[in-house]
Amino acid sequence: MIDTVMGLLLLLLLVCHLSVVHPDTSSDIAAIVKAPLILQCSCFGKVVKWTTSYFYSTETPIAECNSGMCQIEKDFQDRFTFLDDTSAGNFSMTINSTVYNDIGYYKCTCDGKSVSGLHLKVYDPVVVEVFEGDNATLPCYGNTRRDAQDVQWMKDGGKLPVYKYFIADEAAAGRITMSKEGFQTGDLSLRIGSVRHSDASLYLCLIHRGSREGDPRAVLLKVKGYGRCGSGKRGTGTAGGKRWRCHL
Ligand SMILES: *[C@@H]1O[C@H](CO)[C@@H](O)[C@H](O)[C@H]1NC(C)=O
Ligand SMILES: *[C@@H]1O[C@H](CO)[C@@H](O)[C@H](O)[C@H]1NC(C)=O
Ligand SMILES: *[C@@H]1O[C@H](CO)[C@@H](O)[C@H](O)[C@H]1NC(C)=O
Repeated sequence: MIDTVMGLLLLLLLVCHLSVVHPDTSSDIAAIVKAPLILQCSCFGKVVKWTTSYFYSTETPIAECNSGMCQIEKDFQDRFTFLDDTSAGNFSMTINSTVYNDIGYYKCTCDGKSVSGLHLKVYDPVVVEVFEGDNATLPCYGNTRRDAQDVQWMKDGGKLPVYKYFIADEAAAGRITMSKEGFQTGDLSLRIGSVRHSDASLYLCLIHRGSREGDPRAVLLKVKGYGRCGSGKRGTGTAGGKRWRCHL
């Protein structure tokens, strides 16, 4: 009986805590280690504050602006800067070079009201580099023996779904595919045919309704273009690390 009451109280505390920490506008963002990152926030308020927290630790202040005068906390001064003209209401910050421990929750409040909440995840992606028009394979492995029913591949660091595999579906033939045999052995690699420039992105593969991450956790697809055609060039070739293709 006591246990049940305590359990309910704990649950209630947790629910309250969740609703306090996370505003409606929270979203996930993906960063790459050592790469720069922008944390977006814009509002028209007098007092603007950026804070960060990890799990349910207390919030650590990053920066505070009062009537357009901004002060960045000492621990964050090396890598965090305001990007733009804060007097125009743009309080977006940039992280110069993301470190793995930047993972966590970032909140921007404007006169006490939360305007952006960002769950930041940091990745060290496997890089796949192909020429435009070639085929690419983005590697991902995961244990599919027990309960896994689906695999979802996401682009733009997890924002845009590009391919969903359901164990029950017939394998679909298209430019972007995953193999049914592969799924049975835990090879969830994604094949992209005739790669376009717009395919370049940070990809994540998520298993079983997004409950598990694959291995590697992220793949960065880079698409190389063909070099310019010089006068009299014909056919295809490679020069200075760039491949060229000219039709005259
Ligand atoms: C960010 O990095 C650039 C280049 O390394 C440097 O010039 C700049 O001062 C850095 N900004 C901060 C806030 O450290
Ligand atoms: C704020 O400034 C940054 C950097 O100039 C820009 O990328 C971003 O789009 C701006 N945000 C808004 C809401 O204008
Ligand atoms: C891409 O894959 C398709 C289908 O497997 C194949 O026919 C084609 O030759 C491949 N293209 C290249 C450039 O390897």
